[in-house]
Amino acid sequence: MPHTKQVRAGNNHDILALGFGTTIAMWAIGYFCRLPVIGAPPAVAGVLMLIALLAGGYAGGRTTRRGVLGGVWLGGVAWLLNLLILGSLLTASDSPNQMLPSALVWLPGSLLAFITLGALGAALGRLGGVRPAPDQEWLPRFACIAAAATLLLIIAGGLVTSAEEGLAVVDWPNSFGYNMFLYPLSRMTGGIFYEHAHRLLGSLVGLTTLVLASTVQAGRWPRWVKGTAWAALGLVLVQGLLGGLRVTGIFTLSTDPNVVMPNIYLAITHGVVGQVFFGVLIALMVFLARDWHADIARTKSPVAATDIGLSRVLPGLLVVQLVLGAILRHVFFGLQIHIMLAVIVLTLAVVTGVRAWGNYPVQPRLAKAGLVLSLAALLQLVLGLAALFATGANLGLAPTAWNLVLATAHQSTGALILALSVYLMLWLTRLLEPVPPPAS
Ligand code: HEM
Repeated sequence: MPHTKQVRAGNNHDILALGFGTTIAMWAIGYFCRLPVIGAPPAVAGVLMLIALLAGGYAGGRTTRRGVLGGVWLGGVAWLLNLLILGSLLTASDSPNQMLPSALVWLPGSLLAFITLGALGAALGRLGGVRPAPDQEWLPRFACIAAAATLLLIIAGGLVTSAEEGLAVVDWPNSFGYNMFLYPLSRMTGGIFYEHAHRLLGSLVGLTTLVLASTVQAGRWPRWVKGTAWAALGLVLVQGLLGGLRVTGIFTLSTDPNVVMPNIYLAITHGVVGQVFFGVLIALMVFLARDWHADIARTKSPVAATDIGLSRVLPGLLVVQLVLGAILRHVFFGLQIHIMLAVIVLTLAVVTGVRAWGNYPVQPRLAKAGLVLSLAALLQLVLGLAALFATGANLGLAPTAWNLVLATAHQSTGALILALSVYLMLWLTRLLEPVPPPAS
């Protein structure tokens, strides 16, 4: 089926991608600025978030033909999504779920500010010169944005585990009896910030996946592409449930320690499913790409079968290694086997990556992904050793800032390597045609 038929004329994929992308950039800034190990002043975080909104509008002005009105729409979408955190600024800190009277001014005022900044950014973008992206490119970009948000969430989840704050908030889906979207920002400090911010980011990723999957269902995509979108949605729902049940063990709104039953095995499962979900989003992004469906010539190669074969083994081995890593992080068991398998997995990742980089210079997509995969695998080796020494030197003590950073960087780079391996496996399969070696 030609790809152009799969995208309906006049769709809003650009506004969705830009609105969600801008919001995720704003949340990433807010999250990192407020991290206890960074602690930037709130005014700095606020200004940077507004600059991100302006930059989103600018990108919209340059890459779409919608002009200033596109900026207004983008600002509107970003405002709607930011309602997920706006409530935490507008509630009384001493009485659960009680909105402050100033909310009546803040809600319309913030909407006006969002659409004004979006429109201003778009106007500036138009001045910079419009270079519109083709319609078909916006949906894979939206999937890429969902994947980027998930990587941020994986980092946030890794920080929860590294800081040993998985149970800092005792209940779920409420937070200390508050509706989670109305839990006051002033109370989100220390360990509570790590845990609660992770929940809020999880909600944003869930919503992004829901909108992405629904948009794919509305398009004329092959059934297996729609199936991949459903799989992503199913996994994110399961992941949210696993995260919550890790805290409470059963379905209850109680905050009573005698009722809730935190479950470490669900924490391990949650750590692994999060990374698998990330891999599925990457597969969806690849399946939505224009080139995947285009009638492009495959590169014939006598070594293609070996490269495709290696790339198919890698993601499976990586998942086994991720399971071992999650067990090690949560119950401090299996260090030796984790290290032994790491040697095999990282060697395979480097070999697969270097072969893709060196064997197919005519396929830039393969060459680039292969190079990045090999470099990420080498980085992972360094991070693993650094995390081992940092945590080993600190046994039995509260985690230091270095422990947090190194252990989380190691866990998140593992997720990135899985994503790269899925990407490379799919494109190697799509772009190569194995042929028998020439007769000698
Ligand atoms: C929706 C998508 C979500 C993703 C992709 C995700 C991902 C992750 C990841 C990768 C970790 C780190 C695991 C590790 O270090 O081994 C983590 C930790 C955690 N997540 Fe999530 N998460 C999601 C949603 C949620 C939700 C909705 C909750 C609700 C409470 C939650 C609660 C937790 C907790 C408590 C931890 C720390 C576990 C511990 O250290 O014991 N997560 N998450």
